[in-house]
Amino acid sequence: MRSVEPIRWTPEGVVLLDQRRLPGEVVYHTYTDYRELAVAIKDMVIRGAPAIGVAAAMGIALGVLHSRAASLEELRAEFKTICDTFAATRPTAVDLFWAIGRFQRKFDSLARNAAQNNLEPIKEALADEAQQVHRERQLADEAIGKFGAELLPSSGRIMTQCNAGALATGGIGTALGVIRVAAESGRKLEVFVPETRPYLQGARLTAWELQQDKIPLTLITDNMVGHFLKTGGVGAIVVGADRIAANGDTANKIGTYAMAVLAHENRVPFFVAAPVSTLDLSLASGDAIPIEQRPADEVTHVHGVRLAPDVAVANPAFDVTPARFIAAIVTERGVARAPYEQSLRRLAQGASAPSPVAR
Ligand code: MRU
Repeated sequence: MRSVEPIRWTPEGVVLLDQRRLPGEVVYHTYTDYRELAVAIKDMVIRGAPAIGVAAAMGIALGVLHSRAASLEELRAEFKTICDTFAATRPTAVDLFWAIGRFQRKFDSLARNAAQNNLEPIKEALADEAQQVHRERQLADEAIGKFGAELLPSSGRIMTQCNAGALATGGIGTALGVIRVAAESGRKLEVFVPETRPYLQGARLTAWELQQDKIPLTLITDNMVGHFLKTGGVGAIVVGADRIAANGDTANKIGTYAMAVLAHENRVPFFVAAPVSTLDLSLASGDAIPIEQRPADEVTHVHGVRLAPDVAVANPAFDVTPARFIAAIVTERGVARAPYEQSLRRLAQGASAPSPVAR
């Protein structure tokens, strides 16, 4: 694999790279208890919408694999508890709920044909399914990278937000996958990386990933975004997504909305790169997307050091960018453009889009 590996299914358990400790330390943990894996998702050991989906898939498979249920009915009850545990980890990234839904359908179809007392085939099939989800994420990233790279300029500056890289997907990344494929095809790109307060995914993770791949970058603070969009010769912005509503409104890391508005003001094309599993066509608009509120100490403290007095704090982890600011949404099935109601529905329904651009 070309990029860093944040998650792996192994015979010993699910191995996660602890993203809280990057870039200073590269530490892996092996999980054999699904409850601990669910806590790891909540605590950001693994994060990024597609990677959360892979982690939930592997976590559900892990829970079933280690279940002591003696009958199908007992296993069914335990399976529900396992799914509920993962559903309660992080509310915004819809890939999590996509993975849970996929496993519920898989479990139901396996249970229909299962013998009451032989649960091994169900356990094995769910373990295979989890690894299949991971492989599909990797293939989706490669396809997103190819479609998206076509939209980037042949040289110059690109801006991104948060970390939508290998660490966030388990593949080559969505937004960073686009940048990686473009760089590998010989484009001379430099990336502006906002640090992404309060959790610093830009400074800690994106800067690290790009540095590993020798893609030139400049780290900036979040409040420099407007300045560099006005003066910095930025040719395009590409970001990931946590949930995309039917009309194209997109939830992504806090700060993305301000970046998109400033991009519009400065005529910089703003692209979203995400797999089809990040689409939530059950929501008419972004107004209905649940926004995760994270703990106050992520704002008041940095690495355990208090920066602010003990005051009221707001910490919404995501914001919603209205579709009118989004020039295109790049998926593994092709590129959607406005009006998104039609183009996203076509991509969600179909296999690959007949042409790379769905309108
Ligand atoms: O809170 P995080 O780190 O999970 O937030 C991640 C993001 O907002 C990413 O941009 C998004 O999940 C897309 S990752 C390919």
